[in-house]
Amino acid sequence: MRVLILGTGALGCLYAARLAAQADVVMLGAWAEGVDAIRAAGIRVIDPDGRAWVARVRAEHDPEAAPTADVALILVKSHQTRRAAAWAARRLARDGLAVTLQNGLDNLPALVEAVGAPRGAVGVTYNAATLLGPAAVRHVVSLPTYLGLLPARPCAGPADAAQARLGALAGLLNAAGLAAQVSADVEARLWGKAVVNAAINPLTALWRVANGELLARPERRRLLAGLACEAAATARARGVALPFADPVAYVESVCEATAANRSSMLQDVERGRPTEIDSISGVVAAEARRLGVAAPLTEAVWRLVQAL
Ligand code: PAF
Repeated sequence: MRVLILGTGALGCLYAARLAAQADVVMLGAWAEGVDAIRAAGIRVIDPDGRAWVARVRAEHDPEAAPTADVALILVKSHQTRRAAAWAARRLARDGLAVTLQNGLDNLPALVEAVGAPRGAVGVTYNAATLLGPAAVRHVVSLPTYLGLLPARPCAGPADAAQARLGALAGLLNAAGLAAQVSADVEARLWGKAVVNAAINPLTALWRVANGELLARPERRRLLAGLACEAAATARARGVALPFADPVAYVESVCEATAANRSSMLQDVERGRPTEIDSISGVVAAEARRLGVAAPLTEAVWRLVQAL
């Protein structure tokens, strides 16, 4: 399979390095330092068990230099989705599939606008990774990736090209050591992840602490729980059947599983880069308002992180 990975950040590097042994992988990115470092010496990965290894991967700055792809994985920050989607549209095979694996709730519409609904899909990943520098990534914790089509539609068997591609991609990811499965209700997974991100990411960014530190004090736990409940109530008001019964217990379990990780939003703040707050808390707050759900904490952290 010919795989194009858009984005040379932590998850872009992780997926590219892992998939390189299983597929023809090309990375495409606008961050010159990242692309140049990948070209010069490959991607350096530190696994969750501390093992370090290097993968050689082709990387390009210019979409015209990238070959045609069967699958494009969108792993840029959400404010860069439109450009990445336009690049993917130029390189994707006619029967190819572009999959957003990003945090946030507003990436798929932008992707579908560029590649067309039949070629757009969504992935939700719980892998936690830290960018150590250009082309260097620490895989902090290995957790599953869920893939699916939106709006959910029944699988039409092998004739359904998009479903077939998703199945093949899941197989490839599993072979590459990244656990993945196709989900029949990926909107539930997407909102499940949004509950996690809407609770963990703003607080870690505001307090500059690793995920596990959110559980260290009762005051922090209370705010974490409040944000999780607001996002979960919004999802339920939308009619989404979340993949967990208790949002607070679920978010706390993710904090424990990713305790050592500095969230992606904290990493953005530390690097002085734009955050994904509008695509996470901003969308949850807007949906809550639309549906008449009270979400004062979500509104507050959205504005506080924007002001950073
Ligand atoms: O954005 C992140 O950092 C991740 O989605 C997660 C799961 C919160 C782990 O840090």
